[in-house]
Amino acid sequence: MVTIDRELCVGCGACVRDCLLGNLHLEGGKAAAGERCIGCGHCVAVCPKGAVSIPAWDMADVEEYEAEGFSVKPEDYLHAVKFRRSIRSYEERPVEREKLERILQAGRYTPTAANRQACRFYVVQKELFRWKELVWRELPGVTAALRETAPAMAARFAEFVKAHQEDPGKDSLFFGADVFLAVAADETFDAGLAACNMENMAAAEGLGILYSGYLTRIVGKSPALKEWLGVSGKPLACCMLLGYPAVRYRRTAPRKPADILWR
Ligand SMILES: Cc1cc2nc3c(=O)[nH]c(=O)nc-3n(C[C@H](O)[C@H](O)[C@H](O)COP(=O)(O)O)c2cc1C
Repeated sequence: MVTIDRELCVGCGACVRDCLLGNLHLEGGKAAAGERCIGCGHCVAVCPKGAVSIPAWDMADVEEYEAEGFSVKPEDYLHAVKFRRSIRSYEERPVEREKLERILQAGRYTPTAANRQACRFYVVQKELFRWKELVWRELPGVTAALRETAPAMAARFAEFVKAHQEDPGKDSLFFGADVFLAVAADETFDAGLAACNMENMAAAEGLGILYSGYLTRIVGKSPALKEWLGVSGKPLACCMLLGYPAVRYRRTAPRKPADILWR
């Protein structure tokens, strides 16, 4: 998987020292790679001469670090984390494709266990109207199916169905968002981390996201919805809504005191 350009390699051993699995060694004063590789790319990232590559992967997207390293100041990062809000009211304004692509990049570059990189991302924007219609059509059946196992959620969904029947314009599941996003992964944790980075990226773009546990449950329970979306193999871990916020927050929201054990 890993290729060393022996012309460029100066045999400094930085890649050897940083390799998680001990897959690299020095051979005649140059780095050489074996077969035990998870493709984490640390060897590519650490080489001072740019001598290492993973040709099968997206090398064109590899970027050089700035001299100062990580470019976000700690206070700015915490500010961003605190000021991010779940958005339940969206403007009628389309999300630009380049913003959407950067949000997906944030998901793609999120760490995954064993560097699996096995999240699949779903984006529904052009066909959102059809998707919403189908979700509403499926919801009564999902509600009935949940009555035994999750009665509280079934009762909530029954309220949504009733409200939607009375006023089909009432968007209590999608809140007028412009985009539906979902992440599927065998490891729920991988998908959750990706979704978190996507949400923070969305906030940086002036957009807002809502993690929708409700939609995750509804889609997960409906073969018709999974089929329409193209979910197969990996379970759907997280559904989200995305769009321009139609609400303006004036301050951060309070939290419980942190539950931390110090030693
Ligand atoms: C996994 C997860 C699922 C959620 N599901 C829903 C949902 O179905 N509907 C909803 O309105 N909010 C949902 N939320 C949003 C939470 O209610 C929200 O994060 C919490 O109230 C704190 O608000 P904040 O995100 O603005 O800080 C979900 C959040 C998470 C993390």
